[in-house]
Amino acid sequence: MRRARFLLALICGGSAVAADIPAMDAGKKAEQRSCTPCHSLRLIDSQRLSPAAWKKEINKMVGWGAVVPDQQVLLDYLSQEYGDTKPVPEPQRSVPDVKQPDRVDKPAVSK
Ligand code: HEC
Repeated sequence: MRRARFLLALICGGSAVAADIPAMDAGKKAEQRSCTPCHSLRLIDSQRLSPAAWKKEINKMVGWGAVVPDQQVLLDYLSQEYGDTKPVPEPQRSVPDVKQPDRVDKPAVSK
């Protein structure tokens, strides 16, 4: 057992984050299980919210029918991975390589 702990510490670099890895895995699984019946994960993972806001968001989804057996695990995961201190992600376009039209007000049909 001691040896296993030592190896785990070694693998994980002994950082404080190491202890969170199983919890984060559990949170990710909870997200996949509870949050994908109605929409994609992209809608969730592109948010940057405070823990309080994530809590409200989870409650809102539960109110709409999401089944979340362990809300705390999910809340910790979302707050850690998609917290409001993380940089905002690049918007993902459905069609990545299409040149976006410029927004100058031109008539659609030239006279
Ligand atoms: C019962 C269906 C359902 C489930 C399950 C569900 N959602 Fe949603 N969710 C919705 C709908 C519908 C919207 C779009 C609401 C809108 O357009 O404003 C949404 C939108 C969102 C948004 C975008 C912001 C917002 O509030 O509109 C986030 C973030 C979100 N859901 C998170 C989650 C998380 C986290 C879970 C897992 C706990 C989850 N959802 C599970 C129905 C669901």
